[in-house]
Amino acid sequence: MQHHISTQHLCFAYENTPEPLFNDISVQLSFGWTGIVGANGSGKSTFLKLICGLLHPVSGSIHFDDFSYYCEQRTDEPPKELAVLIDSVDRDAFRLKNRLNINDDWQQHWSSLSHGERKRCQIACALYQSPTCLALDEPTNHLDSTSRRLLIDALASFRGIGLVVSHDRLLLDTLTHQTIIMSPPGIIHRNCSYSVAIHELEKEKLATLHKVASAKKQVKRIHKTMVTQQKRASKAKRQNSKQGLNPRDHDAKAKKDLGRLTGKDAVQANIQKRINIKLDRAREHLQDLRVEKQNRTGIQLTGHDRTSTFPLISAPTEMQLGDAKWVYVPELVIEKGEKIGLVGDNGTGKSTLIRQLVDQLFVPKNEMIYIPQEIPVKISQGILQRILDYNSTQKGQIMTLVKRLGSDPEFLLQSAQPSPGQVRKLLLAEGIMLAPVLIIMDEPTNHMDLPSIECLETALADTDIAQILVSHDHLFLKNIVHRFWVFENAAGNTFMVKNANDLPQNL
Ligand SMILES: Nc1ncnc2c1ncn2[C@@H]1O[C@H](COP(=O)(O)OP(=O)(O)OP(=O)(O)O)[C@@H](O)[C@H]1O
Ligand SMILES: [Mg+2]
Repeated sequence: MQHHISTQHLCFAYENTPEPLFNDISVQLSFGWTGIVGANGSGKSTFLKLICGLLHPVSGSIHFDDFSYYCEQRTDEPPKELAVLIDSVDRDAFRLKNRLNINDDWQQHWSSLSHGERKRCQIACALYQSPTCLALDEPTNHLDSTSRRLLIDALASFRGIGLVVSHDRLLLDTLTHQTIIMSPPGIIHRNCSYSVAIHELEKEKLATLHKVASAKKQVKRIHKTMVTQQKRASKAKRQNSKQGLNPRDHDAKAKKDLGRLTGKDAVQANIQKRINIKLDRAREHLQDLRVEKQNRTGIQLTGHDRTSTFPLISAPTEMQLGDAKWVYVPELVIEKGEKIGLVGDNGTGKSTLIRQLVDQLFVPKNEMIYIPQEIPVKISQGILQRILDYNSTQKGQIMTLVKRLGSDPEFLLQSAQPSPGQVRKLLLAEGIMLAPVLIIMDEPTNHMDLPSIECLETALADTDIAQILVSHDHLFLKNIVHRFWVFENAAGNTFMVKNANDLPQNL
């Protein structure tokens, strides 16, 4: 078994993109878990695919010829190994299916499975392969808190080279001993967990800022000396000049000649030269102390002040999920400016209810931001195209918002296939431009990088726009919503939606 993977001067660019995504990356990935973090679109998934041989570098090399397995970020398609896992009766298969709660008939029902259930299938298949290198792309997306705990336990017992892309701080800090922060076209590599790495980087940045401040002072001080010296030199030059002297004043002319002979001029010139050299060096030193420019982040959500739209009321219904599951939904009411959190285990019908509400509530589509739980590749490409077709002012507005959500619009505009996080930011930015009356988001923190989550949380908490949010990130919800619709198991395969002011203890 190979105990590490190394890359040498790795360069990569997608076709038809003028700038390479990666340039000259050399890194060693060792046994145990490495966390990979970075802004949406910074190349995390691309990096995993390169390591696993699903993409090929433009130049440079990857040294690893053992078995690797890439576990997809998207949940559109079932993993091709699912049938084998379902049919297997050996101890490992049985344990994994049990541990991750996988039913034997799931293969036939992929399209009706919740994304959390799909994610659990993907991870079970990945672990069942027992690869030497296991690359997991956002494994805790969509998972409820129980599944997440089970997953972290299962991953902790993996023996091999593990690579995990995640925005889940708990998972990263529990599992990882190495961290890679994508910083295109390069990376920052640290031999410690995520939180320690971020703390170290903050400290280094602060130290650099201090150095920059003292280097600036030094430049200013030398510059001042230089100006004084220049004045002194021009005064000396004036004094040594014979201009304006009476041609017959031989004494005065002899004094000037003596001044030149004793080298007073040359001394001044030498001093000035030395100061100039010092000043150049100080300026170079200041330039070397580059501090990464921090883009301003933060967005504001301003809506239509349309009181007549509210209250929004959805009549009581019974929803059927698949063949055998039922959900009883009472009358649901949303008042103006009210923010509601939907919570419940995987597969209890939250997304089904959300889709139903999007269709049934009397809110015109152009006054509503709706961001679904998953956006398939084809639809993502369509969204990007739609945005590229806006006029330049609107496009500018959207791209400014994307930038303020922490992603580089340049990468996005060049992309043939926006990443899952980039697409969510595009939809959000497009929605903000329309000044909505209602925001509906299904798992808004999935696929989003950490700074964007914080930025989104603040914007949603600060705005008066009514919201319906589904999330397994309970801290995120608690910071935003006023009340909850809780999906509870009533009996067997029957679930009920209940109004609650607080989160139930058991979730
Ligand atoms: N097939 C493709 N063709 C062209 N560009 C692509 C393709 N796939 C991804 N990209 C672009 O390459 C960049 C990196 O994408 P990647 O999916 O690796 O980002 P990521 O960091 O995983 O993003 P996220 O956090 O949203 O998952 C993005 O700008 C993306 O739009
Ligand atoms: Mg990705």
